[in-house]
Amino acid sequence: MKNFTFQSPTKFVFGRDTHRKAGQLVAALGAKKVMVLYGGGSAIQNGTLPVVLQSLDEAGLDYVSAGGVQPNPVSSFVYSAIEGARDEGVDFMLAVGGGSVIDTAKAVALGVPYPGDFLDFYRGKKVEEALPIGVVLTIPAAGSEGSPNTVITDESTHIKKGAAGECLRPKFAVLNPELTFTLSKYQSACGISDMMAHIFERYFTKTPENVVTDRLCEGLLLAIKDVAMRIIIDSEDYEAQAALMWAGMLAHNNLCGVGRDQDWGSHALAHQISALYDAAHGAALAVIFPAWMKYVYTEDIDMFARIAHNVWGVPESVNKEQMALDGIAVYEDFLRGIGMPTKLSQLDVPEDGIPEMVELAFALGNQTIGSFKRMTPTDVEAVYRLAL
Ligand code: NZQ
Ligand code: ZN
Repeated sequence: MKNFTFQSPTKFVFGRDTHRKAGQLVAALGAKKVMVLYGGGSAIQNGTLPVVLQSLDEAGLDYVSAGGVQPNPVSSFVYSAIEGARDEGVDFMLAVGGGSVIDTAKAVALGVPYPGDFLDFYRGKKVEEALPIGVVLTIPAAGSEGSPNTVITDESTHIKKGAAGECLRPKFAVLNPELTFTLSKYQSACGISDMMAHIFERYFTKTPENVVTDRLCEGLLLAIKDVAMRIIIDSEDYEAQAALMWAGMLAHNNLCGVGRDQDWGSHALAHQISALYDAAHGAALAVIFPAWMKYVYTEDIDMFARIAHNVWGVPESVNKEQMALDGIAVYEDFLRGIGMPTKLSQLDVPEDGIPEMVELAFALGNQTIGSFKRMTPTDVEAVYRLAL
């Protein structure tokens, strides 16, 4: 285990009706003027937003609201929201939605106090200051409610990149599983794929001896696997949604990743698919992760055999390589079973689109991608080809 510092200061308020407390939670942080961000309308249609706004009124808070954040959120929305927030003297960002809305709120929170281009932070500038952020989560998926990360697509270059900084961890996150009942099967499946991917990015490491985090990862994967089909069958299964909502947070607040090198290569490859072909993040990962696993499993066959047995139920065998491959096959079956694509063609990505995705993946001057296997452009192309 490597040295680490871990601080997860977000206050999580979990359970039925908890979104009614949003106003109280913001007021307790001393905010004067709140900017409420939401997405394309689901939060209005299912009644979440009106309740949150009412709670702000009841707490005596002044606010402005801005809707229309799109999945795979883009820079143009952020620029206009930064301008609006400055004009209105906003000192607190409240996101009502999923990863896209939360990441946009984080981008605006970064941009308001910064005199330059907020995208500088997505090109490597150190994150040091941001407005405080609160979250009312409506989809268990990205884990942005507990993470220090934000991911935005620069429309001018089609580059989808992340920025990170401890000040971007939300001050509070309201997690009410009832708010997820209106999710489509596809969006739920995307969330399941994404949170599993967050665990894999941490699990596959070259750092030796991670017995605690290995077991946390395996336990979380098993828990997600246990409830996944219940949610696909019945989105109003409260207990299953509750389990998934908490798992999604734990998968990405880094509790499972401390003390070990992390990979994140598959996320980098999936981002190119989302940026160029507007594929849902979790769907892009469902296509990339099995292909990446097939390409890299020989780096540590024992590790792949272990997860195959412990998580995917592959029987122990002396043939570790076969166990590893069987585990990947069971994972792929699982993805198909919840309705996820596992091939690029299912996302309308043509074979001749691969060179552009490879180029974009290295556009910011990085020489390699990932850490479990440091992938060169040739490796990245090979992974995309395995996903055809
Ligand atoms: O826009 P609306 O109308 O709200 O609809 C959304 C959207 O179409 C819908 N939705 C959300 N809650 C709903 C609902 N529909 C019905 N009922 C509800 N309760 O779901 C769709 C997807 O929403 P989105 O916010 O895009 O989903 P997700 O949470 O998966 O976020 C994906 C984004 O997060 C980034 C991804 O790259 C992607 O851009 N990520 C952020 C991370 C982070 N900040 O730590 C880490 C992740 O790896 C990821 O990269
Ligand atoms: Zn993700």
